[in-house]
Amino acid sequence: MPNSCNQGTCGTCKIKVRSGSVDHRTSPENTLPQHERVAGFALACQATPCSDTTIDPPIAEEPTSTHVLHDFVATVSEVRDIAADTRRVLLTLDEPLTFSAGQYVDITVPGTSTKRQYSLANPPTEPKLLELHVRRQPGGVASEWLFGPIEVGDRIDMTGPYGDFTFDEENTGPMALLGGGTGLAPLKASSVMRSR
Ligand code: FES
Repeated sequence: MPNSCNQGTCGTCKIKVRSGSVDHRTSPENTLPQHERVAGFALACQATPCSDTTIDPPIAEEPTSTHVLHDFVATVSEVRDIAADTRRVLLTLDEPLTFSAGQYVDITVPGTSTKRQYSLANPPTEPKLLELHVRRQPGGVASEWLFGPIEVGDRIDMTGPYGDFTFDEENTGPMALLGGGTGLAPLKASSVMRSR
């Protein structure tokens, strides 16, 4: 089943319910507007079936990334405030990670089972280094750690790389990248690749 954010925000897992019914639970209106609910669509990462249910799976776009997904461990090597409520976290890997500019990784918040996704802000030319840009979310499990007790030397369980929003090295035409806040991270990675 194609999926990405697992939080109801990307729409990658949108399915058509052919028979039966589902509870949309916390599916956001932005990702699953009312007219799509009426038309029988649901977000597989949010909805739960209320009966035997038949679905049409999502029509996944051809993935542009073929990098193998890995579980790995990284060590925090730097934590620095780079803007109001935004931190840059550098992680050093034990083994190089093969990824494409624009991809993201999944982090398990130490001491919890909570996972959070962060785009990689650095290009894959530094395969043993990962740069994350993190915005403070008051009360957030990951935020409380990343803006609290995180320390250089902490070991972090991670999985990745994920994501198909990647820099196309074949495309040499003009490229306009727009992003705000920490949304700049994957664009920064791509722009570094383009400027090489
Ligand atoms: S995986 Fe992103 S909305 Fe379901």
